[in-house]
Amino acid sequence: MIRDLQESDLRPLAAIWSDPEVTVHLGGPRDFDWVVNALAEDLPAGQETYDLRPVIEKATGQIIGHCGYLEKEVEGRTEIELTYVLAQPAWGKGYATEAAAALRDYAFQQLKLDRLIALIEPGNTASEHVAEKIGMRLEREVVRPGGALRLIYAIELQTWNPEQYAANARFVAELGLPVLELLNPQPGERVLDLGCGDGVLTEKLAALGCQVVGVDSSPAQIAAAQARGLDARVVDAQRLSFDAEFDAVFSNAALHWMRKPDEVIAGVWRALEPGGRFVGELGGAGNIASILEALEAVMPGHGVDPQTLIPWYFPDEHEYRQKLEANGFVVTAIERFPRPTPLPGDIGDWLETFAGSFLMPFAGDERAHVIAELREALRPKLMDEQGGWTVDYVRLRFAATKPWSEAAEREYDAMLTDIAWAMAV
Ligand code: BEZ
Repeated sequence: MIRDLQESDLRPLAAIWSDPEVTVHLGGPRDFDWVVNALAEDLPAGQETYDLRPVIEKATGQIIGHCGYLEKEVEGRTEIELTYVLAQPAWGKGYATEAAAALRDYAFQQLKLDRLIALIEPGNTASEHVAEKIGMRLEREVVRPGGALRLIYAIELQTWNPEQYAANARFVAELGLPVLELLNPQPGERVLDLGCGDGVLTEKLAALGCQVVGVDSSPAQIAAAQARGLDARVVDAQRLSFDAEFDAVFSNAALHWMRKPDEVIAGVWRALEPGGRFVGELGGAGNIASILEALEAVMPGHGVDPQTLIPWYFPDEHEYRQKLEANGFVVTAIERFPRPTPLPGDIGDWLETFAGSFLMPFAGDERAHVIAELREALRPKLMDEQGGWTVDYVRLRFAATKPWSEAAEREYDAMLTDIAWAMAV
C-alpha cells in the first residue's frame, strides 16, 4: 500500500535512506537526521502530487519503502520520474514491481500523464528488470547536471512513428482543411499550431504567409515537421508558456490526445493577444464508439482493462463550450457532427498507428493475434462489402475569441498614443 506521509514514518524512512546497501545505486547513504528533518518539512503543508510516499507491507503494516514521482528537467524537457527505494527485508518478494506497476497505473489514469520515465544508474540491473516488467523501454543515456550517467527508461501511452503516420494517417491533415477555412488565416498573422504532428497543416499555414510556430509533445513528429523547414518545437500543450505572442491558435485532430483540457485552454488564453482566436477540431463525444466497444469486448480476455489505457478526451459541445467560457473565451461557433471516415488501408494499420496504448503489452505473434481479434469484432460495423474500412468519427469543431478587456484596451490605447507621440517628435 502507498499512502501519504505521517509523522511516525520519518524514522523508518530515514533508516532506509541511510542504509549504504539500499542506496548503492541511488547516490549513496544519506545522514539519518538530515532525512528526518527534510521529510518533516513536508508534514505541515501536506504532500505535493509529485513526491515520494511511504510503502506499507499489507500483512505487517511495516514501512518497507519509499516511492512515487519526481518532476525533473531532462535535457530541456520536463519529465516525471517514477522512483522507489525498498528496505532490505523487502527485497526479492516482487514488491518493487508491484509498487512500480501501481504508480504507472495511477499516473496514466488519475494523474492523466502520457509519459513516465525512470532514471537508472548503469549496472542497476534489478531496477532495469523492474522497469522492463512494467513496460518501460530503454530510450537513451543521459548525463545528469552533476555529471552522473543515467539510463532513461520510458513508457508512453501513445508513441508516434512519422513513417507509419505518413503511410496510414495522411487523411487526418486532408480532412483538417475545413478547420483551416474556419480559421481564415491572414498573411502576416502569428499562428500557433497546437499538436502540429508532422507539420502538414503547419506548412499550409506558412504557405499562406502566416508566421507559424508548431508545437507537439512527440520529438519524432517534431523532427519530421522541422525537416519541412518549419519552426516546430517539442512542447507539452498542457504546459504552454507563451505569453500574448499569437493572433490565433489553431488545432486539428490533436486536442483529444490532451486529457487535461483546462490546462490546455488556460495556456491558449495566455498565448493569445486580446482579440485573438482559438479555432480547432477534435474528436467529440461518441467518437470511435465502435472501436471503444471492440476494445471493451476483446482486451479483458488478454488481461488488459482498456479503461485504464484510454489516451483520449472526447467532450460534447456543452462541456467544451463551458470550459472555453470559464476561461473567458467568447465562443463564436461550436458544433458536433458525425464524420464517418474511410481509411486508406486496413483497420489493423489504424490500430497500430492510433491505439498503441492498448497494444503496448504485446509483441510479435501475440500482438498480431490481438489485432486480428479486434479486427473480427469491428468487421460487422466498420467494413463494407468491398473490404473497405470506415471509422465512426465524430468531430467537435469550434471557434472562440479572447475578447478585449477594458485593461487591455487601455493598454492598447496608451501604446497608440506613445506611437503617435514618437512619430510627432
Ligand atoms: C480522431 O481523430 O478522432 C482520433 C484519431 C485517432 C484516435 C482517436 C481519435
